[in-house]
Amino acid sequence: LDNGLGQSPPMGWNSWNRYTCDINETVILNNAKAMKETGLLELGYNHIIMDDCWSKRQRDPETGKIVPDPEKFPNGLEDMIEKIHNMGFKFGMYSSAGKYTCAGYPGSLDYEEIDAKTFADWKIDYLKYDNCFNQGRSGTPLISYQRYEAMSEALNKTGRPIFYALCQWGEDQVWNWASTVANSWRITGDIYDSFDRYDIRCPCETYDCPSLQGYHCSIMNIVNKATPLAQKTGPNSGWSDMDMLEIGNGGMTYDEYLTHFTMWAVLKSPLILGNDVSNMSPEHLALVSNFDVIAVHQDVSAPANRIWKKPFVDSFVHLFSGALSNGDWVVAIVNEATVPLVEMSIPFSDIFFDNRDNAKFAWTAKDLWTKETITAARHLTVDVVPHGTQVWRLQKSTHNSHNSNYWTGHN
Ligand code: DGJ
Repeated sequence: LDNGLGQSPPMGWNSWNRYTCDINETVILNNAKAMKETGLLELGYNHIIMDDCWSKRQRDPETGKIVPDPEKFPNGLEDMIEKIHNMGFKFGMYSSAGKYTCAGYPGSLDYEEIDAKTFADWKIDYLKYDNCFNQGRSGTPLISYQRYEAMSEALNKTGRPIFYALCQWGEDQVWNWASTVANSWRITGDIYDSFDRYDIRCPCETYDCPSLQGYHCSIMNIVNKATPLAQKTGPNSGWSDMDMLEIGNGGMTYDEYLTHFTMWAVLKSPLILGNDVSNMSPEHLALVSNFDVIAVHQDVSAPANRIWKKPFVDSFVHLFSGALSNGDWVVAIVNEATVPLVEMSIPFSDIFFDNRDNAKFAWTAKDLWTKETITAARHLTVDVVPHGTQVWRLQKSTHNSHNSNYWTGHN
């Protein structure tokens, strides 16, 4: 969607994964304050997004507008949004392209213009637009494209720049049309706070099969689903949304959360925290504060590609690589197995599979987690803990090359 937003994927915080319907002004403001005090705002996490359950059960019968729940928001939403703006954040609102939201509050179907105008009057900067109570249940014959396009047009009419995030779980091949109406789009059902445990009904990884709401996906399900869809995303089209982060919610080990964070960054999903930031362990805070990984995520470039996925003991090893805007490269190795990967040699001809010329050079490789830098030619040697990820930023070495061709023009 060409509304000037989303040259790189958004970053921020959303209430759902940690609080579900248990939200109110205190929860939202406390998390915003914590985002600022911990330095996360300064690192780029600049959206505070309020999810489902913020309104009264009924619209105002006279104006038709959705009404914020006065018990949860005693000072009104506009007051809270102003406070959030004054702290330096953008504010994200939530509604649904159906008769109701998933939790049964009023949805925006058939009220697109009223709601877009109300939200713009409240000065929102981002809209997450869910998909419950549509077709069958509400009796509307509209396919999702029409329902999502209607809100896109209504937002556009307000004249306020609003990042438009579809939450449609991958039905109707959303990745084939979403970039014409939106800035980002979910591609699976909801995330599970688990590395590889998932709802067995979940068709999360099936390319042509919808990932239905209520069917939960592990982070490796989502990585596998997002990988081929990376080609549909980029600075001029928009982003696959791999769902909100679970870091800090307790379901995964540190190494699994590291893989979660690294892959969301390298595949350029929005990086939206989903935990209680006011009560975050120093270890998890440091994890999501990794400046080098964030720099890869915010670089104005397409996501990395998966070069291969090879069987390894009880699972797989995955190699991802991608070009960054200044000619550097990002390379990530995911060890999905339960045993360590020891001294695996990754040839440059694999890393630069689509760009063989680069394989001739020596590269300075910075490990973005350990911060160690080495200069390498021909290959990288990797050691990756179980369920962990090693990620480097490669910069062409100016000092030497193993290939005489580079210096002399012939071998
Ligand atoms: C389904 C979405 O996928 C979730 O992220 C969340 O927004 C819930 N709906 C809210 O009901």
